[in-house]
Amino acid sequence: MCGIVGFVGHEEAAPILLEGLSRLEYRGYDSAGIAVYGQEDGLQVYKAKGRLKALCDLVDNGAAVHGTVGLGHTRWATHGQPSDLNSHPHVSQSGRIAVVHNGIIENYLTLRQRLQARGIHFVSETDTEVVAQLVDYYYKDDIMDAVVKALSQVEGSYALGILCIDCPDQIIAARKDGPLVLGYGDGCNFLASDVTAVIEHTRDVSYMEDGEIAVLTADSIKVYDSLLNPVEKEHFTVDWEISAAEKGGYEHFMIKEIMEQPDALRKCLFPRIKNHKVVLEDLSLDEEYIRSLHKIDIVACGSSYHVGMVSKYFLESLLRIPVEVSLASEFRYCDPIVDEHTLVIVISQSGETADTLAALRQAKKLGARTLGVVNVVGSSIAKECDDVLYTWAGPEIAVATTKAYSTQLGVLYLLGLHFADVLGRLSPDRYDTLVRQLLLLPSCLEQVLEQKENIQYLAFHYFNHESIFFIGRNIDYAMGLEGSLKLKEISYIHSEAYAAGELKHGTISLIEPGTLVVALATYGKLFDKTMSNIVEVKSRGADIIALTTEEHTAAMESQASGIILVPELDPMFMPSLAVVPLQLFAYYVALNRGCDIDKPRNLAKSVTVE
Ligand code: M6R
Repeated sequence: MCGIVGFVGHEEAAPILLEGLSRLEYRGYDSAGIAVYGQEDGLQVYKAKGRLKALCDLVDNGAAVHGTVGLGHTRWATHGQPSDLNSHPHVSQSGRIAVVHNGIIENYLTLRQRLQARGIHFVSETDTEVVAQLVDYYYKDDIMDAVVKALSQVEGSYALGILCIDCPDQIIAARKDGPLVLGYGDGCNFLASDVTAVIEHTRDVSYMEDGEIAVLTADSIKVYDSLLNPVEKEHFTVDWEISAAEKGGYEHFMIKEIMEQPDALRKCLFPRIKNHKVVLEDLSLDEEYIRSLHKIDIVACGSSYHVGMVSKYFLESLLRIPVEVSLASEFRYCDPIVDEHTLVIVISQSGETADTLAALRQAKKLGARTLGVVNVVGSSIAKECDDVLYTWAGPEIAVATTKAYSTQLGVLYLLGLHFADVLGRLSPDRYDTLVRQLLLLPSCLEQVLEQKENIQYLAFHYFNHESIFFIGRNIDYAMGLEGSLKLKEISYIHSEAYAAGELKHGTISLIEPGTLVVALATYGKLFDKTMSNIVEVKSRGADIIALTTEEHTAAMESQASGIILVPELDPMFMPSLAVVPLQLFAYYVALNRGCDIDKPRNLAKSVTVE
């Protein structure tokens, strides 16, 4: 939800912190701040409400701040509205301790009251200020001792960066349920919520675990467990280029990431198909376990949940094993029925979504086997699952997910085919056809992307609508959920996705002359049924944009004012193709409405609070 960056070295810290924050701004963007310690100027704290640019202007892009040690933060407000005062870093009353935080201190009110009773005065409404005051309260002459004592009082989640003016050559980091990466530089070291903020400077990183505390100086990073026993960290080398996290000539990250989808899918799928067979080397589930499965539970949030909704249709059809799909925020509180014969698949781009992480932990506690489908390497969900299949989509920066959705679906296809093979559910011919079609997906996606101008034209025509419906049946309905979310998320247009057959049970009353209905009709078996529903809304005055295959163009022409065609593959692969025009439609509608596409209001990329 928030982005943290820390630097300690021999160069001016402020420009490095600001540059790091610019790469983390997608994590939260309602205010930003930095704290830098300089030999001559002491602790300098600058904060500004609004986008990072406001802070950059305030500090002359860092030139106005001197010192070689510092922390930076970009915020997505939880406690206290976005304001200069509530922005991080927060400084203790004595001015000795500065703190940046990602997460929520759940018992902050109790702690705050206790500290207030001891005469400590608070200046912000945030939960984070409690940490700064508490560390200061315990600080006598040993900052590590103070941090450990303070953390033992704190309940909730945190990724913390701490700076103490009495130890001006170091920063301290601590983690519980919030991502923190340590970057090992040459004569300097880094701390960040995400590798994107450090790879300009180093590719040598390690990932902090829950309960760990790290001390960073210019020459070393020392990591300890919660009892201050030293911990040896495994190092990882980041293998993607910084350009992957830059716009590269595109106006927005979202359109860049939409266009990257064919390549992202190639990277996700091709290495896992050998001699026309799906080979999941990173999976430890053995055949005996797969044969013993009674149920698959898919648990996720937002778009990742929508991938689960689509997957349910094809997994059940391929495997004949019941598949339940749950929103993680519901699963964790609904007393789920899972046991050792249940495979719980958690899907998450960030690997840090708090609800999904909690659901995963619950599933493990109940004895289920867990498998993560995750994009961010080394993230909490990836580390805690029994197995992980990475989506290999590369960094996704736009808040609205696109290539992560496509590659998550890609992984679920691979998994479905692998399980079906083990269970002997497919004839050799059918298996071979499906694998061949899977290999065709990236090039088919390229064909879909060639229709960009047509979709741009339709978006220009309809961007003023205040309400847009998506209807479809079966797998088209599941895909419509994502089309609708994409649209509302970035264009702020009210939108609903409905199972087309369900309209007549209530929702059709909302259709009036001029209502835009995006009709999804790629599922050939139910085309005629969907067509009847299209006619029903059309006869009540709706305008129709249809998404279908070439075979159905003629039938659609009499009903729809706009038609988007996608190549025809097996029905299970159609959502993979059809979701792309919906992403483009949402993008161009939002562009016409002048929305802030990469950073939509009230949202953040990684939702690490409940
Ligand atoms: O990182 P995750 O996949 O766990 O995130 C889940 C949702 O927050 C995410 O998919 C969200 O719905 C997207 N912004 C939608 O575009």
